[in-house]
Amino acid sequence: MKLTLSELSIMEKQAWLQHAIAPRPICFASTIDREGNVNLSPFSFFNLFSSNPPIVVFSPSRRGRDNTIKHTLENVLEVPECVINIVDYDMVQQISLSSCEYPKNVDEFVKAGFTKEAASLVKPPMVKEARIKLECRVNEIKSLGNEGGAGQLVIAEVLCMHVDDAILNADKTMIDQEKMHHVARLGGDWYCRINSSNLFKVAKPNTQLGIGIDALPESIRNSKILTGNHLGQLANVHEEPLIDPAFEDDRLRNIIGYYAISPAEMEKELHTYAASLLNENKVNEAWQVLLAGEN
Ligand SMILES: Cc1cc2nc3c(=O)[nH]c(=O)nc-3n(C[C@H](O)[C@H](O)[C@H](O)COP(=O)(O)O)c2cc1C
Repeated sequence: MKLTLSELSIMEKQAWLQHAIAPRPICFASTIDREGNVNLSPFSFFNLFSSNPPIVVFSPSRRGRDNTIKHTLENVLEVPECVINIVDYDMVQQISLSSCEYPKNVDEFVKAGFTKEAASLVKPPMVKEARIKLECRVNEIKSLGNEGGAGQLVIAEVLCMHVDDAILNADKTMIDQEKMHHVARLGGDWYCRINSSNLFKVAKPNTQLGIGIDALPESIRNSKILTGNHLGQLANVHEEPLIDPAFEDDRLRNIIGYYAISPAEMEKELHTYAASLLNENKVNEAWQVLLAGEN
């Protein structure tokens, strides 16, 4: 189906876009007004946009209901500072609670049961329970419109980061991606959670330039068994590998021996075997299996 955005209501636009552009990380923003009243609210219109300078952007939209602006925006207009607390699984129900439209004088730290911890460089407090907190100066606020639902970009520079030792790797040189259970928002009530069972790695593109899918031998490129992901892995080599006479593999030997009289069947078996090797990131081995079928 095709959707023309200008024909949708504010709610429909929001719902379609949020289901499509997902998952989105969640910034739990702590802000303060001129009188020292603190606000704490989650925003999934949020991301990292520059590392030098270190810039993050989040967007408290104009309310769709009555076109008013959110307390967070009012606060950063008065005191251009914030702490961005990064949301993980252990706090997701509480951050959801804090998104209730409490009146301006209500402190969401109290309502949602979080502990204030003084920041070192900015006035808004940090959320003690958050495992990652970013102290930020708001450099610019860019309005994307005056109607309900219009994003108001809070462009913030990260001045310092606090990272809980418990989520660092063994030699404490980096955040251990398996220890930080990030939570992200999708459409409607859907969220997702990072944990060891759903993390995977993709090897960086070859810095010497991968050969590209167009350079793969035709029988591999047009395989009915290898998927787009498999072809992407194979085409990430700098040059097409050559047959390695030292490559020894029982299953390969069996396939070649058994299907010698049926080239089509042999190709199917070789591609199936290569696919299983690629699923285990064994790219060199997969190439050797495929090359055996090319001759
Ligand atoms: C996970 C989550 C993400 C949210 N993301 C946004 C967002 O990106 N922009 C927005 O305007 N509201 C967002 N909301 C709703 C705000 O958190 C909610 O309107 C909040 O109460 C605003 O508070 P404030 O008026 O105290 O600033 C989100 C709510 C939740 C639970």
